Amino acid sequence: MNSFPAIQQIIQTRRTTKPGMMNGKRIPEEQVKDLLQLANWAPTHGLTEPWHFVVYTGEKVQEFCRQHADLYQQYIPAEKFTPEKYEKLAHMGDLASHVIIAIMQRGKLPAIPVLEEIAAAACAVQNILLGATALGIASYWGSGGMAYHPAMKTFLKLQEEDLVLGIIYLGYSDKTLTGRRNTPIHAKITYVE
Ligand SMILES: Cc1cc2nc3c(=O)[nH]c(=O)nc-3n(C[C@H](O)[C@H](O)[C@H](O)COP(=O)(O)O)c2cc1C
Repeated sequence: MNSFPAIQQIIQTRRTTKPGMMNGKRIPEEQVKDLLQLANWAPTHGLTEPWHFVVYTGEKVQEFCRQHADLYQQYIPAEKFTPEKYEKLAHMGDLASHVIIAIMQRGKLPAIPVLEEIAAAACAVQNILLGATALGIASYWGSGGMAYHPAMKTFLKLQEEDLVLGIIYLGYSDKTLTGRRNTPIHAKITYVE
């Protein structure tokens, strides 16, 4: 069995699908749990396993989106607040199935640099995205809104040293998106022979 083409296809067909392009169909809970299992197999220096996921499912998806919008309203400087953005955040998950907050939860080994803990947690997120693609599940890694605001950390009861890496929306989509890269890989490689 040659498994490389399978993973190649999954990696190349994973596409960012905005939650508004999802169709409202629910992902079976077991499949979401399978995706979280994949996350746990990310590489991790010193086995610190520095990832944590807060998973919103069912009605809690809309509840979280409303809370996200409320945080925006509460903490964004008044001159920057727009009702359109508030509504966008509040309804971001209307057609999504699950929302997963991806967190870098600092491991117990202070000798491991933060950079490595972020890298490991990002690998865990990618495992989720690729697993989702393999299951025909659309995904969106969002970092806008309040994702990086200290108020989000407080809301999630995180420690000071933890970081929110993104808000992942999962669902199904009827659209098939094609990907694009501006720069071919050969321009990003220094090959030393
Ligand atoms: C760390 C990170 C944060 C991102 N944040 C956002 C975001 O806030 N809004 C957005 O539209 N896309 C966001 N994206 C998704 C990118 O826009 C997307 O990956 C890029 O357009 C390439 O498309 P592709 O994922 O389909 O290959 C983020 C991606 C990463 C890795």
